[in-house]
Amino acid sequence: MEKKSFFIKTFGCQQNEADSQRIASYYLARGYRLAKSMKSASEIVINTCMIRQSAEDRVTGLVKNIAKSANRWTRPKIVITGCMVGMAARDETGTYLKTLRGRMPEVDEFLPLEEVGFDYPALRNDVSHSWVPISNGCNNFCTFCVVPFTRGREVSRPFGDIISEIKELARHGCGEVTLLGQNVNSYGADLVKNSKAGYRLPGGRVVKPVMVKHLGRYRIPTLFPYLLEEVCKIKGIKKVKFISSNPWDFSDELIEVISKTPKIDRNIHLPVQAGDNDVLKRMNRWYLRKEYIKLAQKIKNKVKGAKISTDIIVGFPGETKKQFENTVDLAKKVNFAYAYVAKYSARPNTAATKALSDDVDYAEKERRFHILDQLINHTGTNRSAVH
Ligand code: 5AD
Ligand code: SF4
Repeated sequence: MEKKSFFIKTFGCQQNEADSQRIASYYLARGYRLAKSMKSASEIVINTCMIRQSAEDRVTGLVKNIAKSANRWTRPKIVITGCMVGMAARDETGTYLKTLRGRMPEVDEFLPLEEVGFDYPALRNDVSHSWVPISNGCNNFCTFCVVPFTRGREVSRPFGDIISEIKELARHGCGEVTLLGQNVNSYGADLVKNSKAGYRLPGGRVVKPVMVKHLGRYRIPTLFPYLLEEVCKIKGIKKVKFISSNPWDFSDELIEVISKTPKIDRNIHLPVQAGDNDVLKRMNRWYLRKEYIKLAQKIKNKVKGAKISTDIIVGFPGETKKQFENTVDLAKKVNFAYAYVAKYSARPNTAATKALSDDVDYAEKERRFHILDQLINHTGTNRSAVH
């Protein structure tokens, strides 16, 4: 075992990958060295995900394995960070921390991301491509989703900071960036909302906090189209990708910017979650199936070569066979390039867990999963994408 060395194991999404790059800097700044493998580290940091129960189970399994494979007194220190700790830190009752301690008594430290802070420069090992978080958290409270509880409300990074970071990356040879956010295209709505006179962009343009109508609802305008434009102007940047978008902030302005800027990736990930209006309503996804279909069509019509991929949940509480068929029908109409299909998993603190019963049995969830997976990911030229 190398003294004062660390190894980070990351579960979950790209946002977690990006967080781990910052955590690595945090450790280096405190005099630790990066270990070559988990086995040789004196401290193992597990960056956790809790989007579904299976993700939590993988974390618990790893903790047990580390503890089992080493002597109690000489084993590496086990540190848990990421979403599970975020959830515990935000749960004022302390119940979730107690649950974690009970489930994994082997854990030596629970490290909230807030303690690491957001100012450490990411330790990136790939020069050509960089993940760049532009916002953190989510305000949407889809009833199935734990993210607003693990990451808190949405906070956007200042526009100028993001541009400076990407300029610096480009100077060091990075030609491709992926902008990251739970709702990447909501970027800046909080900045605009908090600035009574409007948010002044680096070029002098002011975006006023007047509501804009989209998909039948009023929204605070986002700064995402402007950010995309500015990032594409940076010398050396050849490709700009972004994940993950939501339908309600996919404005005409955004479509326009993508269509006229070839540097922006044409693969657009646009989670639909369900194709039935009642299920969407119970999920608190405030668009109708026909609005999503129309939006997808509009993107394909206006953006040459656009391919749309998606996330779908099967077996959401109360989802009938007929309602599931509506999702199948939507998938046929939109013709997704690929889809991450997930079986509904009840998550702590969410509105769906509190108010609805997880009443679609596992075999039926499996059946629905395979139908959609087969239809979207295994027919024609579509590639497989299931997690
Ligand atoms: N059960 C199953 N899938 C979920 N997702 C989010 N929460 C749940 C849940 N409770 C899926 C959604 C989301 C993706 C990141 O994970 O499809 O878009
Ligand atoms: Fe936010 Fe809904 Fe996405 Fe969860 S699924 S991160 S609640 S928009």
